[in-house]
Amino acid sequence: MNGIEILGTGSYVPEFVADNDKFSEILDTSDEWIFPRTGIKQRHIATDIPNYYMGAQAAKNALENARFSAEDVDLIIVSTCTPDFFYPAMSCLIQKLIGAKNAACFDVNSACTGFITSLDIAHSSLAAGKHKNVLIVSSEKLSQQVDYTDRASSILFGDAAGAVLVTKSDKPFYSYMGAEGDEFEALYCKANYNANCPWYGNINEFYKNRFDTPQKQNYLVQDGKAVYKFAVNAMANAVKNAVKGHYDISELDLVIPHQANLRIIEKATELLGIPSEKVYTNIEHMGNVSSACIPIALDELKKAGRIVPGMKLCFVGFGAGLTYGAAVMEV
Ligand code: COA
Repeated sequence: MNGIEILGTGSYVPEFVADNDKFSEILDTSDEWIFPRTGIKQRHIATDIPNYYMGAQAAKNALENARFSAEDVDLIIVSTCTPDFFYPAMSCLIQKLIGAKNAACFDVNSACTGFITSLDIAHSSLAAGKHKNVLIVSSEKLSQQVDYTDRASSILFGDAAGAVLVTKSDKPFYSYMGAEGDEFEALYCKANYNANCPWYGNINEFYKNRFDTPQKQNYLVQDGKAVYKFAVNAMANAVKNAVKGHYDISELDLVIPHQANLRIIEKATELLGIPSEKVYTNIEHMGNVSSACIPIALDELKKAGRIVPGMKLCFVGFGAGLTYGAAVMEV
C-alpha cells in the first residue's frame, strides 16, 4: 500500500478580527442576515503582512510540530489562489523564509480545492519515490481580491494559512478530483495586467465586455447561488467517488470539509448520510479562507487531541474552476 502519513501540522491566523458588526459599519448588512445564511460570525484579516509571510509562519509551525529540520524537506507545494506575485511561485518565497534550501518548489492553483489537489500530488510523488518529505502550505489572503462594496461576497472570506508535512507510509490513501470549467464564470478574479503592448487589438475590450465593468475586473466576482447549487452535489459526489471500492461512507470517522458556507456543509453531508458529530467545522470563527480551510481545521483538531491513530479521515472541498475533490486517509 502506497499511502501517506502526516508528520506535523501548523497554521497561522492573523490577529485582526472583522466580525459581522464590523461589516455592518461599512455595508448595509447585519449579523442577523449573515450568521443564519452562512454560519459565519467573524474572519481574520492580514492587515500588515503579505500572504507568503503567513504561509511561512504556518510552515515553520508544522515543522516545529513534527520536530523536523527545514533542510530535510525535499518538496514544497504551496496552494494559493491569492499569491502576492504572479511569479516567482509563492513556494520559493516561503522556501527562503523557512530555510528549506534542499526543496524543489511549485505552486498549485485549484482555488479552494487546492489543499486536496496538493495532497493528491504529494501522494503521487511520494508513491513514485521522487520525494521523501513534502511540505504542503495552503496560504490565502482573500482580502486582497475581495470587493468590500459587495455585501453578497465580501462577508464570506478571510485570510490565514495552514501547513502539513507528509511522508510515505503503508496506510491507505484514496482520492478523487474533478472540474467543471464550463461553470468558471460562477467564481473568478481576473488577473491584473498593466498591458501596454503596442500591438494589442481589442483584447482590453474583450475583457471589459466579458468580465463586468473595468473597476470590477480585478476583484473576486461570484454568482453565489450558482456556486451554492454546484457545491452541494460536487462535495457529495467527491466523497462517494473517493471511498468507492474501499470503504462504506459510514466507516469514515471524521469529515473535514472546505468551510465555504455552513448550510452547504450541512446539505452535502446530509445527502451522504453522515451525522453532524462526524463533521468538523470552524467557519464560525474563521470564515472561508479558501484552500487554507482544511489544513487549519486539521491543525485545530490535532491540537485538541481529536486525531486518534487508526481514524479514517475524509477531506472534501470545492472552489473556483469550478473544481472539487476529496481525499480519504487513515492516520
Ligand atoms: N446582507 C444583507 N443582504 C444581503 C447580503 C448581506 N450580506 N448579501 C446579499 N444580500 C441580499 C441581496 O442584495 C439580495 O437582496 P434583494 O433580493 O433585495 O436583491 C438578497 O439578499 C438575496 O441575495 P443573493 O445574492 O441571492 O443571496 P443568497 O441567498 O444567494 O445568499 C450567499 C448569498 C453568498 C450567502 C450564498 O449564495 C452562498 O453562500 N453561496 C455560496 C458561495 C460560496 O460558497 N463561495 C465560495 C466558494 S469556495
